[in-house]
Amino acid sequence: MKNKLIFLLFFIPGLLFAQNQIRKCIICHQKPDIHKVMPTGIERSVYVDKKILRSSVHRNLKCQDCHVDVTSIPHQGLKIGRVNCARCHFNGNNLGAPNSPMYQLFWGSVHGKKLKAGDPKAPRCQTCHGGHNVFKPTDPRSTVYKKNIPATCGQCHKKELHDYSGSVHGVAILKKGIMNVPVCTDCHGKHDVYSSNMSKSHTSKQNVPDTCMSCHDNYGLMRKFKMTTNQADTYSKSFHGIALRFGEKTVANCASCHGTHNIRRQSDPKSSINPANIPKTCGQCHKGANKNFAKGKIHLNPENKSSGLVYYISNFFFWLTTLTMLALFAHILLDLRRKLKEKKEERETHK
Ligand code: HEC
Ligand code: HEC
Ligand code: HEC
Ligand code: HEC
Ligand code: HEC
Ligand code: HEC
Ligand code: HEC
Ligand code: HEC
Ligand code: HEC
Repeated sequence: MKNKLIFLLFFIPGLLFAQNQIRKCIICHQKPDIHKVMPTGIERSVYVDKKILRSSVHRNLKCQDCHVDVTSIPHQGLKIGRVNCARCHFNGNNLGAPNSPMYQLFWGSVHGKKLKAGDPKAPRCQTCHGGHNVFKPTDPRSTVYKKNIPATCGQCHKKELHDYSGSVHGVAILKKGIMNVPVCTDCHGKHDVYSSNMSKSHTSKQNVPDTCMSCHDNYGLMRKFKMTTNQADTYSKSFHGIALRFGEKTVANCASCHGTHNIRRQSDPKSSINPANIPKTCGQCHKGANKNFAKGKIHLNPENKSSGLVYYISNFFFWLTTLTMLALFAHILLDLRRKLKEKKEERETHK
């Protein structure tokens, strides 16, 4: 009871104070026609919809918590810079903003590095999350709600958005509302987006198979769409898959044959794996590949002798790995035995 009284004693005036702080700004900024005249002569609205802010995750913040440059009213003549979200959002903050190592990743990403270097085209926090309309990623109103992510990234990456929108994955989520397909961030990462030629990128040649397999090797998920995990298994055991794992980057990963943003079903004439397009797709690397080049060669099971060379190559690598491991263990054991023997001798001479 006493605690409740003390709470109300501070809470109510606090609330009134905050409301008053906001009213100070809203008095002018709620006028629908309030605007700023840009140096170019163009008028830009500076109208603020208080309701949006009030329903956002920042409902308890005051205007000046973000707009720190507005130190007096009226503020004409003050130099007002862009809002710095990282003022509160850093790992280890005690301001109530969620603590997560995710933000630190942003600064090392391709976007964060460009932003720090002063590239005006690089996204900052608010470019992806919004200014006043910041909601949790699970809220359908959020700019980073799964279904809205393609449009958010596509503000700048227009070609990728265009290709993705026509792909089997893009059509599924954007037109049919199927949420289990990948959007940009499932393949590229959320804050940790890197250029694909960096080995740590989720979309580097080495990492593409794992990125696709996070779903295509998920039995339950694939079954839901009447698909199998066969392609993931067979790729891993194929010549391309094994060679890639051994560090050979010139072989094909899933994206070399299926494309990245324009992945389509085999039956789709625009698909890179449609028989009509096989000469071009395989021909990137196999000179003279014809329409039948892929027949009976891709996504077949190397444990089956009828797979031909793949079967023998796969077996060769299996035995190579096994023998190498055995030799390694033997070496470790012999080494251990020698060390123990030396220890024993040492102890005996000390006696
Ligand atoms: C007396 C009316 C008035 C009050 C009160 C007021 N503003 Fe403004 N504000 C304006 C006008 C007018 C502009 C348009 C730009 C200009 O003329 O400087 C503006 C512009 C802005 C901008 C955009 C600045 C830019 O250069 O892009 C921000 C941010 C802003 N106001 C925040 C605030 C905050 C925060 C408060 C409360 C602490 C506040 N304003 C109170 C009238 C007001
Ligand atoms: C969570 C932080 C946050 C809070 C709280 C906040 N704003 Fe903003 N506001 C932003 C961001 C981000 C932008 C986009 C411009 C930018 O990046 O700085 C913005 C834009 C604006 C603009 C338009 C400026 C322009 O250049 O278009 C005005 C005016 C403004 N805010 C006023 C207010 C007022 C008044 C309040 C309180 C009722 C408020 N803001 C509360 C983050 C905030
Ligand atoms: C004055 C400190 C402050 C500033 C500045 C600020 N935030 Fe926040 N932010 C918070 C707090 C506190 C919370 C937690 C709110 C809650 O959970 O009730 C939060 C929550 C969030 C969340 C929701 C996280 C989740 O999943 O629950 C997002 C997203 C977010 N902020 C993004 C931004 C962006 C983008 C900006 C810049 C436009 C920004 N913040 C500026 C303090 C701040
Ligand atoms: C290139 C776009 C982009 C930029 C730039 C960006 N974010 Fe994010 N952010 C995302 C996406 C996408 C998500 C994840 C949504 C999800 O979980 O599905 C996210 C999630 C978040 C969350 C919620 C995390 C959680 O676990 O609840 C917060 C908070 C956040 N970002 C803050 C920031 C801050 C602060 C910055 C600037 C330092 C920033 N973001 C820059 C795209 C971006
Ligand atoms: C405000 C614009 C903007 C937004 C929004 C944006 N990006 Fe970027 N992105 C850039 C810029 C600028 C670069 C650096 C381009 C360069 O180096 O040529 C970049 C680079 C990239 C790269 C590496 C490209 C390369 O050639 O190295 C990837 C991948 C990427 N972004 C993905 C995303 C994803 C995924 C999102 C959404 C979560 C996103 N971007 C949102 C502007 C943006
Ligand atoms: C199914 C996985 C997947 C999805 C979904 C996806 N991408 Fe990509 N993306 C890739 C791969 C793989 C590459 C690398 C292609 C290469 O190496 O030539 C790539 C390349 C890129 C590049 C070129 C820069 C680079 O790193 O080479 C950009 C920019 C990009 N994607 C942005 C996006 C955007 C924006 C979206 C959402 C509209 C998106 N991607 C959706 C897998 C994906
Ligand atoms: C987030 C999970 C997820 C990721 C990651 C993913 N996919 Fe998919 N993919 C799906 C789902 C679910 C479907 C079925 C969509 C439908 O039927 O509408 C699908 C459909 C497909 C299809 C059409 C299959 C058919 O039988 O019609 C191909 C081809 C495909 N994906 C290839 C890829 C490749 C290549 C990658 C990596 C670059 C990838 N996918 C990454 C979930 C994923
Ligand atoms: C060397 C080229 C190549 C590579 C690498 C490859 N695929 Fe395929 N994929 C094909 C061809 C050709 C087909 C159609 C014929 C078949 O099923 O054998 C196909 C079929 C598929 C299908 C069924 C599509 C449909 O429309 O029926 C899926 C799903 C798929 N692949 C996913 C993957 C995944 C995931 C990877 C990586 C782990 C991968 N593929 C690697 C060439 C390739
Ligand atoms: C990104 C380049 C690339 C693409 C695209 C590619 N391959 Fe390969 N593939 C290689 C390399 C490199 C080797 C190993 C050396 C060689 O045989 O030329 C190889 C080896 C093979 C092998 C095993 C060795 C052999 O010659 O029998 C088969 C089978 C194969 N590829 C079929 C295909 C088919 C079918 C396609 C198209 C659906 C395809 N590849 C697309 C790069 C690629």
